[in-house]
Amino acid sequence: MPNLSLDCENLQPFISDQEVNDYQSQVGLCHDQLEKGTGLGSDYLGWLHLPSGVSDSVLADIQSTADSLRNVCDAFIVVGIGGSYLGARAGISFLSSSFFNQFGRHGGPEIYFAGQNISSDYHADLFDLVGGRDVSLNVISKSGTTTEPAIAFRLLKEMVENKYGADVARDRIVVTTDSSKGALKSLADELGYRTFVIPDDVGGRYSVLTPVGLFPMAVAGINIQELMEGARQAEKLYSNPSLDQNDAYYYAVTRQLLYKKGKTTEILATFQPAFSYLADWWKQLAGESEGKNLKGIFPSSVEFTSDLHSMGQWIQEGNRNIFETFLVLESSRRQLKIPAFKNDADGLNYLAGETLDAVNEKAWLGTASAHKEGGVPNMTLKIKDRSPYSLGQAFYFFERAVAMTGYLNGVNPFDQPGVEFYKKNMFKLLGKPGF
Ligand code: PA5
Repeated sequence: MPNLSLDCENLQPFISDQEVNDYQSQVGLCHDQLEKGTGLGSDYLGWLHLPSGVSDSVLADIQSTADSLRNVCDAFIVVGIGGSYLGARAGISFLSSSFFNQFGRHGGPEIYFAGQNISSDYHADLFDLVGGRDVSLNVISKSGTTTEPAIAFRLLKEMVENKYGADVARDRIVVTTDSSKGALKSLADELGYRTFVIPDDVGGRYSVLTPVGLFPMAVAGINIQELMEGARQAEKLYSNPSLDQNDAYYYAVTRQLLYKKGKTTEILATFQPAFSYLADWWKQLAGESEGKNLKGIFPSSVEFTSDLHSMGQWIQEGNRNIFETFLVLESSRRQLKIPAFKNDADGLNYLAGETLDAVNEKAWLGTASAHKEGGVPNMTLKIKDRSPYSLGQAFYFFERAVAMTGYLNGVNPFDQPGVEFYKKNMFKLLGKPGF
């Protein structure tokens, strides 16, 4: 069963059902290109059938390595950037308590992230925090040469080696990288680190369902079997070329149609703090996949209702080049009810007994219709619950949709040539040999 449902009512009158359906033959062609590997970037289609292709033994291996690390550390540090970071962070934030690191060692380590920036203060603060704790590391880099995680790993490796000595440190470091290439692979081989492999045909931002995302999530105590079951179900649901039976493709077509009508920015609007890193993961997936050849929707995100008190004004009345996708949770894990006050001094007694979910729902409905009236086409992707199963479906849904939008827009959704430009300049300024 799908744990996701797409509601496109508020796209009318901006786009019609007919306009969407007119895309069916193009969708069919792009679908064939994806499935047959005849389209752009066909060397990187391994993600398409990862959920059904991953073996139980691979998952068991990830799980048992995660279990043994969970037993020896209070703080687990995930070192990576971009696609080698955001999936794990999105999954852990989506599925864990809002304050998971503040609960102490509740059967598993605290989870921290490093190497996603070059901030001295951030990393120094992290060392202050974890210095007195038992630490393990997972350094993740497909290329094995990315500067930000390489710098963070140097610092952290030195820290754990000083703390435990090189022999013990070795057992506290897990490397996730390419099967044969890159400096990180050579280092792992030389020093004998436990290594997980990122498949050659899976690019960074499509790698959340490989050890890149699964291992840190397993260390965080997430049920990765259930996550993969959800993804497997999504693979079945969203591998159907018919638009009327495939919400991921339907969403892709609506995005493309809106883009063609000048709605060049998509705002992913969430109503749950737990979704904020999922939104960041989505922004990376969509932005790096679609933004090239002077084309592409600019993906942005807001967290409501908080951002209704900041960006809400812009969305309601600013430049009309935007559309919105609401990502709405159908049911919270726990229901809180608004209490009645005797004197009703705050005038809130009309809500006494209502759940926060019910109020949040009205906030979404009220916002969606206000923004539609203000000229912002919007749609809603509902997600049933905050379970690993639902999250597995969501990861796969967005991967399929973004790949399809890229193909519909005539770009290669699996490369990122533009990312190299800043690197070249930075290396030149840093005096890296060869630049
Ligand atoms: O999607 C991508 O390919 C990128 O965002 C990469 O994941 C990111 O640049 C990190 O690369 P690497 O894993 O090689 O360190």
